[in-house]
Amino acid sequence: MSRKNKFPADSQPEADLRAKRAEEELRRSESRIAAILAIGADAIISLDEKMRITLFNEGAERLFGYVQGEILGQSLDTLVPERFRSRHRKDVRDFAASPIMARRVGERQAIYALHKDGTEFPAEASIAKLEVGGERVYMAMVRDISERKQAEDMLARSNAELEARVEQRTKALEEEIQRREEAQAALIQAQRMEAFGQLTGGIAHDFNNLLTIVLGNLELLDAQLSQEKERALLHRAADAAQMGARLTSRLLTFSRRQRLKAVVLNLNDLMLGIAELLKRSLGERIALTTVLAGALWPTRVDPSEVENAVLNLAINARDAMPDGGKLVIETRNVTVDKEGVETLGDVVAGDYVCISVTDTGTGMSPEVLEHAFEPFFTTKRGSGTGLGLSTIYGFAQQSGGHVTIESERGSGTTVSLFLPRASDVETGTVRQRAPEVPLSENCETVLVVEDDPELRELTLQRVEGLGYVALDAEDAKTAIRILESEPGIELVFSDIVLGRGMSGYQLGLWVRANKPGQRVLLTTGYASDATGGENIADEFNVLRKPYSRLQLALALKTALEAEPG
Ligand SMILES: Nc1ncnc2c1ncn2[C@@H]1O[C@H](COP(=O)(O)OP(=O)(O)OP(=O)(O)O)[C@@H](O)[C@H]1O
Ligand SMILES: [Mg+2]
Repeated sequence: MSRKNKFPADSQPEADLRAKRAEEELRRSESRIAAILAIGADAIISLDEKMRITLFNEGAERLFGYVQGEILGQSLDTLVPERFRSRHRKDVRDFAASPIMARRVGERQAIYALHKDGTEFPAEASIAKLEVGGERVYMAMVRDISERKQAEDMLARSNAELEARVEQRTKALEEEIQRREEAQAALIQAQRMEAFGQLTGGIAHDFNNLLTIVLGNLELLDAQLSQEKERALLHRAADAAQMGARLTSRLLTFSRRQRLKAVVLNLNDLMLGIAELLKRSLGERIALTTVLAGALWPTRVDPSEVENAVLNLAINARDAMPDGGKLVIETRNVTVDKEGVETLGDVVAGDYVCISVTDTGTGMSPEVLEHAFEPFFTTKRGSGTGLGLSTIYGFAQQSGGHVTIESERGSGTTVSLFLPRASDVETGTVRQRAPEVPLSENCETVLVVEDDPELRELTLQRVEGLGYVALDAEDAKTAIRILESEPGIELVFSDIVLGRGMSGYQLGLWVRANKPGQRVLLTTGYASDATGGENIADEFNVLRKPYSRLQLALALKTALEAEPG
């Protein structure tokens, strides 16, 4: 059986029928494609091998603004902005040569298409290649993504904005935390210094009493010795005791119990004097500069304490610059506001005159910085007492001011002393030179009130040595009993701290109320004694321990000559 027999040829009518069906099928398929091309929202473009446009659907007409008639046969370049054309051609060539049959364009990098009116729009495209009748044909689908891109850009922008805002807020929070930590640290430091102050103040007070006994006895002994050799020994002992007294005086400054002789002054004048002195003593390797603010506010301070402070700071600076360096002393007006109070700690808001001493020395390690203000803290074994900065701290506190240290290892140190601005109405007080030792002319009777028996005995002798008649009492109660029974007493000379019962200050008030003709002189190791508040010195004459014979004589005389209170 031949193949023909198995598949007999169609009869003519059958063949016609089949051809007709095929034709119909083709037409239906064509109109389906035409419908797809027509309703396609996207641009569908087909190209021949040379990249000439052979099909341009309605979507493409809408997107690019051309009608079929004018664009067919044109190069694809017409739809690509000038600046992308060469890159685009290369892309197409690569695609033509590659084994890939279809790909998306513009995934990695946004592409742009060119409208008939010359405007560009961001687009997304897919391209496919196929072989038709031995010819290479391309089909491309293009979509306008302007809106999507706008939305994406907006999202990116608002994301960036959000990130920036989060970053800003985080920074603000971190700053706030840092500020609080600093304020906390400043508070702790202030409390620690306060505790140190109380401790050292107490020690210094006891020490003062001891030194008063030592010095007073040496003075009495001095009058009884005739041999020069013996007296020389005694003077050496007295010198040492004086040195001890100076040390306790520094301690008392730290614990804010030193009596300050405050006057209103312009610190610039004082700084010029100090600079003069320092220039000569610091040596050639240290270059001293003074930067003094014009129109510096006046301040009310004890000038000798300020001098002391600046000299101490300069000496610290010198010690920190063994190979030389720069030292700058600067004055300026500073207003401390609420925020400043938080960072500085332990200072009230207001106007201050600031003196800062800056060096280019070794700087301090964080550990040294933490302890620098503590009394007896020193890194200068053998040569330092560790009282420099602590004294300055106490002085600043007592003056209503503040001290700060900024220091970094290797880059130097700045210590700033803030002293309160004096109000315009305050005027300076003038200090006078001391006259000769005045002895009693009328043998007035003085009642010495002192609870320490040894000190009481010594004071009795010293008072008598000045020509007075002396009586004594160990406490205020006894003193009042004596005052009520002895009519001739003209002066009550009492220690402020009397152990138990009434204080010397209260005794003074009693005398003032009950014995109007009698005068009062108080004595103490503290300037502002806890027993009576800050103003004892304004109400009574006060003699600070340890005192010399001359100081005692002057104080007794001044008290006796004073108007009754
Ligand atoms: N300008 C500075 N540069 C570097 N370190 C300093 C400076 N000033 C102070 N210090 C450090 O602080 C410590 C304490 O200083 P402070 O002035 O209280 O005592 P001192 O200088 O050691 O002794 P004193 O002043 O009693 O002779 C010093 O030992 C030093 O370590
Ligand atoms: Mg020092």
